[in-house]
Amino acid sequence: MDRIKISGGNELRGIIPISGAKNAALPLMIASLLTSDTLTLENVPHLADVEGLMRILGNHGVDIAVNGRRERQEDGYSRTIHFTCRTIADTTAPYELVSKMRASFWVIGPLLAREGRARVSLPGGCAIGTRPVDLFLEGLAALGAEIEIDGGYVNATAPKGGLIGNHYRFPKVSVGATHVMMMAATLANGTTVIENAAREPEVVDLANCLNAMGAKVSGAGSKTITIEGVTSLSGARHRVLPDRIETGTYAMAVAMTGGDVTLEGTDGALLENALDTLRQAGAEITETPSGLRVVRNGNGIQPVDVVTEPFPGFPTDLQAQFMALMTRSSGVSHITETIFENRFMHVQELARLGARISLSGQMARVEGVSRLKGAPVMATDLRASVSLVIAGLAAEGETIVNRVYHLDRGFERLEEKLTRCGAVVQRVSE
Ligand code: EPZ
Repeated sequence: MDRIKISGGNELRGIIPISGAKNAALPLMIASLLTSDTLTLENVPHLADVEGLMRILGNHGVDIAVNGRRERQEDGYSRTIHFTCRTIADTTAPYELVSKMRASFWVIGPLLAREGRARVSLPGGCAIGTRPVDLFLEGLAALGAEIEIDGGYVNATAPKGGLIGNHYRFPKVSVGATHVMMMAATLANGTTVIENAAREPEVVDLANCLNAMGAKVSGAGSKTITIEGVTSLSGARHRVLPDRIETGTYAMAVAMTGGDVTLEGTDGALLENALDTLRQAGAEITETPSGLRVVRNGNGIQPVDVVTEPFPGFPTDLQAQFMALMTRSSGVSHITETIFENRFMHVQELARLGARISLSGQMARVEGVSRLKGAPVMATDLRASVSLVIAGLAAEGETIVNRVYHLDRGFERLEEKLTRCGAVVQRVSE
């Protein structure tokens, strides 16, 4: 199993290219199930989760060609990939696949819309929380689907003439359930109105792609999304938006180590709340023609309180990284996690590096310390893992981050991007 070895203490200086967003690429790839034509996605990041979803889509009958060739391209940053699903080969998404990657549950929307039926394994528990799927099922039922749970699988069946447009208000904001309902409604009879929809940029990206495929989706990015059903969708070419979580992660790394880095190809509008929080903590962040420039202003790291919220609030996917930064602040900060009930697994690992953090329910109290000291650590999800990398970059001596496969799920060429900016980071294979 690979590990990442970090010798901390260096400032970061240089350019980091930001990849296409994992959490946009996954639903966009799933949207290819909605059409028999080719959906071409540009700027798809080269990540384990993307490779995993390709295998899952292949099982449903999607033919996948990377950069016009059938074989996978093993090097090179974000790629152009062609997805063609002439016919759905299988409407079952088996447990062995869905349990490995949660987002694969989302195939339920397109399968139901296009084939009138889907049998999809319940994803099961997860390291960051229970993550139920009740909202997906309620939303699909509102479109007329009959839902039955049997032997760990969701069996969903559309009415004879197909799904039927309806008004539905989500009792709680869910990114995944919004993606799924939006995709399912594109091929429903009549108009669907989704209220209390997720407003994340990845939802907007999916809506833009669906519209390029001939769907009629309006309002994405607001709390109310309207989808007028159409009889079929066509192929399209769409560019995956930049990864706002990768952007925020490297911005926090620079705030932590000091230095001057340009995050190339990204857009500050995707993460305004997180950037404002970082500015309060002491980073100078400016928009440049090529992306964002992050400079640490030399005044040390100020403590800032944050509460995670659905977009446009502070993202839960940056909570662990921000906590790593706050471990070195000059005071006390409070970090409250409101999205997932178990997303503090990094706390005890940061403590191994010398951080002073106490937990009380969903709130962490972080007392800044003047130094962190390297140690072997590990984490149970990808954002927690990268928070340990950030802490390791600023720690004295050597930090070894175990279970690198988590990082490979969501960060493209992490060690290469950091090394080019002067960090001493090395992947060690056993
Ligand atoms: C997406 O997960 C992201 N994943 C997550 O990123 C991200 O943390 C999350 O949104 C919140 O921003 C992808 O886009 C692939 P939710 P998702 O449904 O859609 C509860 C990462 O590190 N809920 O918005 O699964 C749920 O338990 C990952 O890249 C229900 O109660 O998240 C949670 O408390 C991790 N019932 C809350 O809603 C449901 O049916 C928000 O979850 C569905 C969700």
